[in-house]
Amino acid sequence: LELYLGALSGTLPPHPFDHAELEANALAALPPELRTYVAGGSGTEGTQRANVSAFERWALVPRMLNAHAERDLSIELFGKALTSPLLMAPVGVVGLCTPDQHGDIHAAEVSAATGVPLIGSTLMSDPLEDVVVATGDTPAWFQLYTPKNRELAASLVSRAEAAGYDAIVITLDTWVPGWRPRDLASGNFPQLRGKALANYTSDPVFQEMTGPDPDPSTVVFTWAGTFGNPLTWDDLPWLRSLTSLPILLKGICHPDDARRAIDEGVDGIYCSNHGGRQADGGGAALDWLPGVVDAVDGRAPVVFDSGVRTGADVVKAIALGATAVAVGRPYVYGLALGGVPGGVHVIRSLQAEADLIMGVDGYPTLSDLTRDALVDQHRRS
Ligand code: FNR
Repeated sequence: LELYLGALSGTLPPHPFDHAELEANALAALPPELRTYVAGGSGTEGTQRANVSAFERWALVPRMLNAHAERDLSIELFGKALTSPLLMAPVGVVGLCTPDQHGDIHAAEVSAATGVPLIGSTLMSDPLEDVVVATGDTPAWFQLYTPKNRELAASLVSRAEAAGYDAIVITLDTWVPGWRPRDLASGNFPQLRGKALANYTSDPVFQEMTGPDPDPSTVVFTWAGTFGNPLTWDDLPWLRSLTSLPILLKGICHPDDARRAIDEGVDGIYCSNHGGRQADGGGAALDWLPGVVDAVDGRAPVVFDSGVRTGADVVKAIALGATAVAVGRPYVYGLALGGVPGGVHVIRSLQAEADLIMGVDGYPTLSDLTRDALVDQHRRS
């Protein structure tokens, strides 16, 4: 009502509420090489489209005479209280998506303003130490692209721990760049243009690898030579030994992988197909979520991302068993279009719509949102 009333008094929010409009306006505001890189996905982009449309399969069943003026969307993750189950997914080029090229800092400012944790990517345009400072009191996680050079991996993780990040997310599906025709055609890859490499150029181990005062091409070739370690189960004990922080594995979609990861001491599972950017032909990430949740069986939190565009999507992912739900492109579009206020607008809109749906549909707390709240439309005869 506040928003509708605001329109009457001429205080319309300056940014779109509709995702398609947000995306179109944000892409128009970005330089061409970032448009395809941010919006695009792998192959035919079938997986990317499936991520979004999979939410339509599930229908939330309204329950009446269970109205609560206040809803409770709070969760606890790794001992930290959060006011909503939202997270900001790691996005390697967010730094480039604001005109001042400090988009990572601005994403952190969105996190500070909303209380929604930022998962900072390895591929930042500002060093991870500066980014975490801007998150203020909000918890922050660091996402690791594990370099081939183990000393460099250890250095990045220990820097993140020393800087105050609360968890490490190890991304498993990106030891090679995705087959993304929109960017392949033009050889468009920001890091190969020397962008978003601040965590490397500020790292003492990387500096040893490049030698003093390296020219830009030395930096890029050194980075390209160490990026992308194809991890196996045998690497887990080593990764575990690098930190006492909770470790989550990002990219887990199969129940057996989820079960084994927990058995081997991982602290959280992050079910995701990288927003459909890595492997096409894989189906929607949402379709893998229930199996992953069942395999984890309450032994650890399950984070979900890929395709979340609305508050209704957040509610559905929670009802399918996610502990927390991350968004990628939407907040990047908010930042690209409207800087920190634009990013805050996107996050707050997701929170507000999820809260409203829980209120109207009679599910006042997150624990009321179980699979019984959903009907699988595919099964309807
Ligand atoms: C990403 N993603 C990503 N993931 C990761 O672990 N490290 C990274 O650096 C990046 N970089 C990145 C760049 C861009 C432009 C995008 C769009 C995505 C994947 C991201 O964390 C997340 O899994 C997806 O974005 C979720 O899907 P949606 O919300 O974008 O559909």
